[in-house]
Amino acid sequence: MRLKNKVAIITGAGSGIGRASALAFVREGAKVVVADWSEKGGEETVKLIKEEKGQAIFVKTDVSRAADVENLVKKCLAEYEKVDILFNNAGIVKMGALHETSEADWDQVINVNLKSIFLCSKAVLPEMLKQGKGKIVSTASIAGLVGFSQIGPYCASKGGMIALTREMALEYASKKINVNCIAPGVIKTAMTVDTPGGMKGYMDNTPYPRLGEGEDIAMAALYLASDESDFVTGEVLVVDGGWTVK
Ligand SMILES: NC(=O)c1ccc[n+]([C@@H]2O[C@H](COP(=O)([O-])OP(=O)(O)OC[C@H]3O[C@@H](n4cnc5c(N)ncnc54)[C@H](O)[C@@H]3O)[C@@H](O)[C@H]2O)c1
Repeated sequence: MRLKNKVAIITGAGSGIGRASALAFVREGAKVVVADWSEKGGEETVKLIKEEKGQAIFVKTDVSRAADVENLVKKCLAEYEKVDILFNNAGIVKMGALHETSEADWDQVINVNLKSIFLCSKAVLPEMLKQGKGKIVSTASIAGLVGFSQIGPYCASKGGMIALTREMALEYASKKINVNCIAPGVIKTAMTVDTPGGMKGYMDNTPYPRLGEGEDIAMAALYLASDESDFVTGEVLVVDGGWTVK
């Protein structure tokens, strides 16, 4: 088992990529703390894990709020006594022309997608430093690497995540804390299925003959969370069916 006896906090684990990752981590022996602001989604993920005889708890968390994040890590330590892996995965997108984007929408996307990486990492780092090892993985996006229109705050947040990943990787490498991120292409989740105009535009831009599934990203997260990637840090693992190499 690749994550035997490891404890992982996964944000946004109430749906999509986060849920697929929670299930994948548990199947490899991890105990998982499911963090999400959706109680329904989070509880459902825990139920699915328990059906497979895995161990998990749900902690209702808004990752953009420091008090919620501190409570999340406190609950994790109370239940499992350590934290080996933080998977920063919660995220939102808001579509629209930049000149019509409200300040409130800008702030919300930046806070949920980017500030959360700071808050969650800050909260787990003291524990990882004490343990002498840790893995921090975040779900960025190819929108942080190449241009997309109509999602300005999202692109800015994902680009910021990539920069912060590199900063943290350098800062904590000597402490054996690896910090990496994943840049997915289009993955079929709640975030994409309701895209105005449907999925055809996405398919046309994806050389591989299908769109991504949550499991495609879960497998990348599993690698970056496991000991197999101990010598990998500060990386952006692109999982996009070839979108960005065109
Ligand atoms: N689906 C894609 O094509 C795609 C592509 C690139 C990157 N991503 C990224 O993958 C991550 C997961 O998205 P997904 O595709 O699984 O979408 P999703 O909507 O299925 O899942 C997102 C989860 O995050 C939770 N969430 C949102 N805001 C939160 C907050 N403030 N606090 C706690 N939980 C919150 C939601 O409740 C939901 O359970 C996101 O960071 C997203 O930006 C997705």
